[in-house]
Amino acid sequence: MPKIILATIFLAAAVAASGSLSHHDNSSNCTVQAWVRAEDLAPERVSHGELRIKVLQAHCANSIASVALRLQLNEFGEVKHLREGAVIPEIQKSDNQTLPDDLISMGFWGGGSTNEVVYDYGPYDRAMSDPALWVVKAEERTAWSTETTLFENNPSFFRPLVKPFIVASPAVNYPPSFTNYRHNSFDLIQRHAYSDLGYHYIAVVNFTDGRTVDLRAGYTTFLPTSPKALATTTPFTWNTTFSETEGCHKDLPQTQKMPSGRERCLPADLRSVFIAEVTLEDGNAIQRGKPLKGRVAIHATNGSTKMSDVSVSFTNTKHQPWAVDRATTSGDPDFDGLLCQWSGMSSGIISVDPFSIVFKKKDDDDSSVWSYDYDSRYPSRRGPLTAAKPYLDFELPIPTTAVPNFSSYYSSIEAVLELSLSVIYSRDAADCISGANGLNKYDTFEEPEDERTADDVSKTEDGLWESYIAVGEPIQSQMLWRRMLHFKATVPLVVLGDISERPAQHYLTPGQPSPIILVSPADVVFPPVRPVITEEPLVNTSERLMRTDGTFDPIQSHRNFWNHTRLFTQDKAPDPAAHYNRGNYAGLLWKKKVVSEERGILSTIVQGEGKDSQHRFVVTP
Ligand SMILES: *[C@@H]1O[C@H](CO)[C@@H](O)[C@H](O)[C@H]1NC(C)=O
Ligand SMILES: *[C@@H]1O[C@H](CO)[C@@H](O)[C@H](O)[C@H]1NC(C)=O
Ligand SMILES: *[C@@H]1O[C@H](CO)[C@@H](O)[C@H](O)[C@H]1NC(C)=O
Ligand SMILES: *[C@@H]1O[C@H](CO)[C@@H](O)[C@H](O)[C@H]1NC(C)=O
Ligand SMILES: *[C@@H]1O[C@H](CO)[C@@H](O)[C@H](O)[C@H]1NC(C)=O
Ligand SMILES: *[C@@H]1O[C@H](CO)[C@@H](O)[C@H](O)[C@H]1NC(C)=O
Ligand SMILES: *[C@@H]1O[C@H](CO)[C@@H](O)[C@H](O)[C@H]1NC(C)=O
Ligand SMILES: *[C@@H]1O[C@H](CO)[C@@H](O)[C@H](O)[C@H]1NC(C)=O
Ligand SMILES: *[C@@H]1O[C@H](CO)[C@@H](O)[C@H](O)[C@H]1NC(C)=O
Repeated sequence: MPKIILATIFLAAAVAASGSLSHHDNSSNCTVQAWVRAEDLAPERVSHGELRIKVLQAHCANSIASVALRLQLNEFGEVKHLREGAVIPEIQKSDNQTLPDDLISMGFWGGGSTNEVVYDYGPYDRAMSDPALWVVKAEERTAWSTETTLFENNPSFFRPLVKPFIVASPAVNYPPSFTNYRHNSFDLIQRHAYSDLGYHYIAVVNFTDGRTVDLRAGYTTFLPTSPKALATTTPFTWNTTFSETEGCHKDLPQTQKMPSGRERCLPADLRSVFIAEVTLEDGNAIQRGKPLKGRVAIHATNGSTKMSDVSVSFTNTKHQPWAVDRATTSGDPDFDGLLCQWSGMSSGIISVDPFSIVFKKKDDDDSSVWSYDYDSRYPSRRGPLTAAKPYLDFELPIPTTAVPNFSSYYSSIEAVLELSLSVIYSRDAADCISGANGLNKYDTFEEPEDERTADDVSKTEDGLWESYIAVGEPIQSQMLWRRMLHFKATVPLVVLGDISERPAQHYLTPGQPSPIILVSPADVVFPPVRPVITEEPLVNTSERLMRTDGTFDPIQSHRNFWNHTRLFTQDKAPDPAAHYNRGNYAGLLWKKKVVSEERGILSTIVQGEGKDSQHRFVVTP
């Protein structure tokens, strides 16, 4: 027999007599908490959910007049672009070419090369926060908002109360929501774009003394659908030429030095050109949870570089059409090309699972591919290329959590197959580049004698002592990276949403209806979306994007990196999107309810003629 725990009910009865605010108190003394657990939203779906309200102080139990629940879709966009005609000062060679002593002792020059040029970044850095040069703008768009009263007539909160509700959605595709990472720059910000969106549940608590507070009660997401017609399986081929990967801040002198030495010793027009021919067996429209199978074959011209290996990885790319459009139409035509995008951050538990490919036998798969991606959201495969086998066959697991491609108001999400190609050049060219960059003998990482002469058996034994080498594969030269170039190419993919027989309209198509929150099922007329855009006060946007306390100077940056005072005194400016998708995900709490009911941990009882649905914990013997 299950035993019902009644302790909270007894406690509630004991304090019931004192459960109201005395005349000199008011509701600011009361702490109220709100939670929502609910199913995800989707086109033409009725999603069930429950709101829970808890009042912490017994004397506040009767001080709530009513509680309404609001659900809204918020979108955020932010941009920093160059004003029309604005010119950023060039970084000049510094008059003082003496390196500061503290940086030499910090080992900043890694080995003691002394012919490093010192630049004066002052004017360039100051330009980054000059309002005469930059335009900043941030705004929040509430696409729709729906609200219903769930508790009314001064209910008694001696114990937490739970109330069911439903959200009915029309046949419209609203954007999927996912976790975004804002790049918290410790330094100055150049061209910049950021966007986010979130579906927020907000409990609107009305106290008996007339005070109203909004409490964040959780977030949810929307699962857009794709028409069945897109789920085809026609093979897809794509030819693309590899280009060299360029890091951020390619216009800064310190990052330019390497390529110029390289250009002299390894002229671009004498290098080989590499073209990838990618075949995807079942097309480029992919369903989440199903593998992506294909082959990448590399065609190379005869030149000074030789292909070494290739990797393919599934990645989501986020574009910022709103910011790019604003910038390019307001006088910053280079904005998109110079935007330094920050792709996803990796996270995952430590396990041998991501290394499973290392243990694959050669006969399992002729291309002896391996993967070392910790983050299963971005699966990848990698394999060596030779003249005899200039291709890689791959099968990438596409995570069930992959974000369907979708264009929202401020951003668009697309998926790509990213190809990374490593190519090798000669020792002579490598020595020439080292010389051109003024590196001395300590900086030129000579390949040790044993690496040049070692046989396959000892290289294979060495391979067992390296994490990323497949069992039975010879180790690669430790110093090969010194003679490598890295190229990238991409193949467009379309990640499909849940396949639906009935087409849903895109939410930005004019005249679309919006979801509605209800106490109980009813025939409803969906209200039209009425977006409201609120611009952030310029002073707040400026404080976030026009910071004055950083530098692009690698010397100073190195100092700042070690300055812990600096680390803790920054980010005073509030971030309007910081609360997006923070707190509880309503879908996770809903699943906990479903699972606990399945396991008999939670049973539902209905109190007071079906008015307040209550859950009690039941301890099973
Ligand atoms: C409620 O009480 C606080 C102090 O406890 C006071 O600061 C506040 O002004 C009062 N508000 C109202 C509406 O009386
Ligand atoms: C309510 O707050 C006021 C001021 O913060 C305090 O003086 C008063 O004692 C509080 N009342 C209760 C019941 O805690
Ligand atoms: C300029 O030279 C002095 C030595 O005369 C040195 O201490 C200082 O660090 C140098 N400043 C810069 C910015 O390099
Ligand atoms: C809550 O209070 C506000 C303002 O006091 C009022 O406009 C609103 O109708 C109230 N909501 C409910 C559900 O009573
Ligand atoms: C890709 O290139 C190969 C070899 O050059 C060619 O046979 C094929 O037709 C090309 N495919 C496409 C889609 O252009
Ligand atoms: C590639 O070019 C080199 C000279 O750069 C030449 O010696 C060699 O024969 C060429 N190979 C082919 C296959 O054309
Ligand atoms: C993404 O997929 C949708 C269909 O789901 C399609 O309408 C849209 O054009 C695609 N966008 C891109 C950029 O491929
Ligand atoms: C602007 O920033 C100030 C603090 O710097 C903050 O108190 C205020 O709420 C912000 N305004 C908006 C609309 O975010
Ligand atoms: C460290 O940072 C703080 C705060 O930005 C600054 O006041 C201080 O001068 C810095 N110290 C050094 C050594 O750069």
